[in-house]
Amino acid sequence: MDLADVDAQKQAAAYRAVEDFVQSSMIVGLGTGSTAIHATMRIGELLKSGELSDVVGVPTAKSTQAAAIKAGVPLLDDSVVWDIDVTIDGADEVDSDLNLIKGGGGALLREKLVAQTTATEVIVVDESKRSPLLGTNFKLPVEVVEFGLATTREFLALVAGEPTLRVTETGEPFRTDQGNVIFDCHTGAIEDVFSLAGVLEAHAGIVEHGLFLGLTQFLVVASSTGVEILSPSESL
Ligand code: A5P
Repeated sequence: MDLADVDAQKQAAAYRAVEDFVQSSMIVGLGTGSTAIHATMRIGELLKSGELSDVVGVPTAKSTQAAAIKAGVPLLDDSVVWDIDVTIDGADEVDSDLNLIKGGGGALLREKLVAQTTATEVIVVDESKRSPLLGTNFKLPVEVVEFGLATTREFLALVAGEPTLRVTETGEPFRTDQGNVIFDCHTGAIEDVFSLAGVLEAHAGIVEHGLFLGLTQFLVVASSTGVEILSPSESL
């Protein structure tokens, strides 16, 4: 496969993750974003060809749910307990401990809920997502309720960095699948991600933040020279 361009790298990482981590009869978390969607499509193809069977998915966004249905991947709903074997999801920024910033697509709450109930979380990225310190290359998404919006904004400015309300192409506030809004915080490089996560989690009005800490078991990273699989103990 020619991995010269980023889209080819995204597909290569996702396909490799499916090949190495997904087996028949598994419950699979289906991630959101332009990289993870390749995994959902690939699982659909393998189910159709019979190379996989009895795989059921848990989607991390309404958009992923729609794509999975189209691809022919059966899904679990909210009425059953999810005991997810493996989730394949993307990320916006990855540090050397495989901590992540996620939420560029606005699906951070569902993605974290699924990640926390997953035995093996596999993150698929192209090499542009790697970073020495989270916050260096990507703003931190924070999902908040609209009640007290200006007050929450002021709090985020104090503890996380200048917040920008995410808007759609038409200038309306972006709405998550839960109907909440998102502030993208200009944190700059975050020295202590665990401390910031704790501060955000303690504050009412904040529904979820995009720091995914200690949740990743494997990183599948594609570059122009090939695909590598890393675990947190291996330095990037
Ligand atoms: C969705 O909310 C995000 O967490 C995505 O996983 C992330 O934005 C990665 O997307 P791409 O694969 O499109 O870069």
